[in-house]
Amino acid sequence: MAAGYNSRLQRPAFVGRWVLEGANRGFASILRLAPVVASCYLFPCRFGPPLKRKALGRLMTIRLLTDGRDVNWAEAAEVFRLAPLGRREPEKLRKAFLSSAISVYAYDAGTLVGLGRALSDGEYQAAIFDVVVLPAYQGKGIGRSIVAKIEATLRVPNVILYAVPGMERFYAELGYRRMKTAMAKLAPAMNDVGDGYLE
Ligand SMILES: CC(C)(COP(=O)(O)OP(=O)(O)OC[C@H]1O[C@@H](n2cnc3c(N)ncnc32)[C@H](O)[C@@H]1OP(=O)(O)O)[C@@H](O)C(=O)NCCC(=O)NCCS
Repeated sequence: MAAGYNSRLQRPAFVGRWVLEGANRGFASILRLAPVVASCYLFPCRFGPPLKRKALGRLMTIRLLTDGRDVNWAEAAEVFRLAPLGRREPEKLRKAFLSSAISVYAYDAGTLVGLGRALSDGEYQAAIFDVVVLPAYQGKGIGRSIVAKIEATLRVPNVILYAVPGMERFYAELGYRRMKTAMAKLAPAMNDVGDGYLE
């Protein structure tokens, strides 16, 4: 199981597998799974436009924007911190996102709940980075929608990325496959083999 998801009840997106596992353990399992089944109704797992999901006990409409000029970058840094995807300086985030070929910002009303970006040469190659969603909004298809929006806008044949260790399945579900020859020179903080990025 991916890092950060220790509770079996935390991710309604996995409800199908839990039901299968629980089914072998008798009536007690059925009782235990009742809240999971209920959560499946509260938090539908699949997306399709318009991006309407139930979260926090209410129906929300997620807007995906690509214009980052009005983004509050302190709020964006907070999304990174909480997700978690590390501590980022708001000013550096602003530079990185506004310099990218495509940036996507997911809003629930006025709240920034997720974002992601990609570099691109506009013709052959692109690279996706920094896809991140607030914990309360994870598992509802927002990350998938951010990546889909990036891909649809990029329109290049080759898209590469590297996942945070443990998050590979997120991108595998979206059609990404491991590359045999991918190589990287990374920042010192990601250089140790124990960090999970390099062989
Ligand atoms: C990874 C992240 C961006 C996914 O966003 P999300 O909105 O929660 O993901 P989605 O709901 O769109 O999930 C799409 C699919 O990816 C998979 N998935 C989602 N989160 C996952 C996780 N943490 N681990 C493994 N697989 C995951 C699921 O199979 C899911 O499909 P399903 O709902 O049909 O089961 C989000 O969990 C996050 O911000 N995590 C912390 C930051 C991070 O690590 N970002 C870098 C990713 S490399």
